[in-house]
Amino acid sequence: MLMLSALLTLMTLMLGLAAVSGGPEQIKAAQDAAVAVAAQEAQETAVTTTTPCALLDLLFPKDSLGEHHLVSIRQSLRITQATASHYPSRDELLRILYHGTASPYVGLGSVKGRRLKAAAVKKAVFDVVNRQLGHSPKFVIEVGSYKGGGVVATWGPLARSNDGLCLCVDTWQGDVNMRLGAAFQRDMRLEHGFPTLGMLFMRAIVDAGLQDTVYPLSMPSLTAARLLAVLKWTIDLIFLDSAHEKGETLIELHMYYQLLRPGGILMGDDWEAFPAVRHDVILFAKCHNVTIQLLKDDHGSRVNTWLIAKPVV
Ligand SMILES: C[S@@+](CC[C@H](N)C(=O)[O-])C[C@H]1O[C@@H](n2cnc3c(N)ncnc32)[C@H](O)[C@@H]1O
Repeated sequence: MLMLSALLTLMTLMLGLAAVSGGPEQIKAAQDAAVAVAAQEAQETAVTTTTPCALLDLLFPKDSLGEHHLVSIRQSLRITQATASHYPSRDELLRILYHGTASPYVGLGSVKGRRLKAAAVKKAVFDVVNRQLGHSPKFVIEVGSYKGGGVVATWGPLARSNDGLCLCVDTWQGDVNMRLGAAFQRDMRLEHGFPTLGMLFMRAIVDAGLQDTVYPLSMPSLTAARLLAVLKWTIDLIFLDSAHEKGETLIELHMYYQLLRPGGILMGDDWEAFPAVRHDVILFAKCHNVTIQLLKDDHGSRVNTWLIAKPVV
């Protein structure tokens, strides 16, 4: 593709030159050549972009780090081609993600008295997840955790019921709405220009006594997906609840579905509340020919949680 672009540029230059110095035949020949190159390039692009999901494969590969970097990182973490996918132990998670064995919660007090409002979906999710997996999940990823409402009410207790772990991926920088909207400024509270939202999350986990189950991974969702691809950890359940922007959710679906073990569950929030989420989930399900299940909240008829079970091939 790059070569073709370069060739096209060259042809265009030639056209310009011919227009200045060549006769009519030379100009015609250069025009024909440029048109032929453009047509070929368009055809090649069409081959690789027949569906949005094929384009995602092209633009967002799971292993994006340069080969050289991946090799040395895997060597230092003792991950070889032969390393089988496995559930991380607590020690392994602490050693790899925090470069040691100390819990990130050491020295943190709770915020008793600032109890989080209970998240809406709980029991319905517990039942469906346990039925689908045949057991409670051993390793859960929540993408987008905010103050920890969902992980404290649902994902943490769900993982803990099987002595499992839950990793929460978030930048704790908020989305556009949170960064600019007046309603979020109390939670975001900037210190030296940086949001302190993450500390609310950490304290909520301490307050709920979930420090041995729930851990933070403070980075953008895309980077976290690539990090998890390097680590080869087995993931039973992924809950996507981050930016909800059109296209952004599709990229996350694409990246995180690949990380999920066969038979695992990909689910997310805001089916009803965010048309952009609905759009991307439907598009993704069509590309992969998978079924979308919708769950009602415990209270009332609002359907906000969607679920895709990854087929066991
Ligand atoms: C709707 S809130 C999550 C709510 C949470 N699941 C709950 O149940 O309380 C969205 C969160 O996604 C995070 N976020 C948005 N875009 C992100 C991205 N690209 N990568 C990582 N986190 C992101 C924001 O910082 C915010 O905390």
